Amino acid sequence: MSFNRAYSLPETAAAKLDKLVDEIEARPGRLVNPDELRAASDSLSVKEVVNRLPEGFSEEDFVGILKLAMLTECATDSYSAVFREGATTYNAPWLARFNDTIWTPDEYTHYTPYQYMLQSLGYSEEQLKNEMSEVQGRHYEHCCGKTPVELTTYGIAQEYLTDNWHGMISQLMRESAPYAAQCATAVKRRETLHTIWYREMTAVQIEENPNLIPLVAATLQSFQMPGTRLVPQFGTRALEWMDKASVDFSRVTSDFVRNFYEVTGSVKRAGNLFLTLAARRGMKIGPVPLSSINTVLSKIGGPGYGIIGEAVLDKFGVPRATNDSRFLNGLKSNLKNMVARQIDTSSIIGKV
Ligand SMILES: [Fe+2]
Ligand SMILES: [Fe+2]
Repeated sequence: MSFNRAYSLPETAAAKLDKLVDEIEARPGRLVNPDELRAASDSLSVKEVVNRLPEGFSEEDFVGILKLAMLTECATDSYSAVFREGATTYNAPWLARFNDTIWTPDEYTHYTPYQYMLQSLGYSEEQLKNEMSEVQGRHYEHCCGKTPVELTTYGIAQEYLTDNWHGMISQLMRESAPYAAQCATAVKRRETLHTIWYREMTAVQIEENPNLIPLVAATLQSFQMPGTRLVPQFGTRALEWMDKASVDFSRVTSDFVRNFYEVTGSVKRAGNLFLTLAARRGMKIGPVPLSSINTVLSKIGGPGYGIIGEAVLDKFGVPRATNDSRFLNGLKSNLKNMVARQIDTSSIIGKV
């Protein structure tokens, strides 16, 4: 693995990151309990759900959704190895500890409810175990960089989208299989915690070294869900299924922007991140590529990025800490409106 010299943290960071992981270890929340699920496996039947799927949703779609959840979750060791490798290479014992003592054992339990749900639809335990072993044996190529800040950034995006996936499943089953829906929600809640924890870890790193923002942008640009790599036959259909299940994409974008606003800790830094990301995606304002605007803004510093940050947060309906728009003069507010018009969902979260 090549070493990325752009990653560095001042000495003050280690104690803060260690303390953060101490706090997580002290309060990990309630894990999913596979024994409880096994004991209640009869109540995890989702046969009724198939009879009452939304318009345009087939049984094959529903099975695909459950299989994507089960098969992506079962490959915990593949992802865990990537985080351990990054933590070792970049001397980040806090990340190794979080990965090994909290995240990995937690993730090991997440496939369980989906295995029982699929069994209720006629798949044998043996068949499902074979499918899982096959995925676990595949080579997993990580989409993004492996410095700690890139890994925790990847963690935010991946956990947030997985959280949505379990939430979507729960929603589909709520009426006709309430216990199964409750179990999907229990997994969802774990992913919510993971999102928050990775967000906090990323925020500390950015606070300690704001020059890491381009690494966050690079990660978001090359980000891919692990399912699209490990189980492409289902992973590549995720957006189609989200659409059929009426997932609100504008909420997803807004949540995404909010998460990364919180990561950066200020409107200005958020502006820096979003502009860097949009520039990397090749966006333009009129004939001018954002990359050249970014170069100018990085020379003049804060105020320019503040305008971009405000434009993006306002556009996606994310409340911001301070509201000083009324002080904007004409030129600034023109620039802000222009940015708001040009920066769209795809420039932030890629093509959806
Ligand atoms: Fe998970
Ligand atoms: Fe997770």
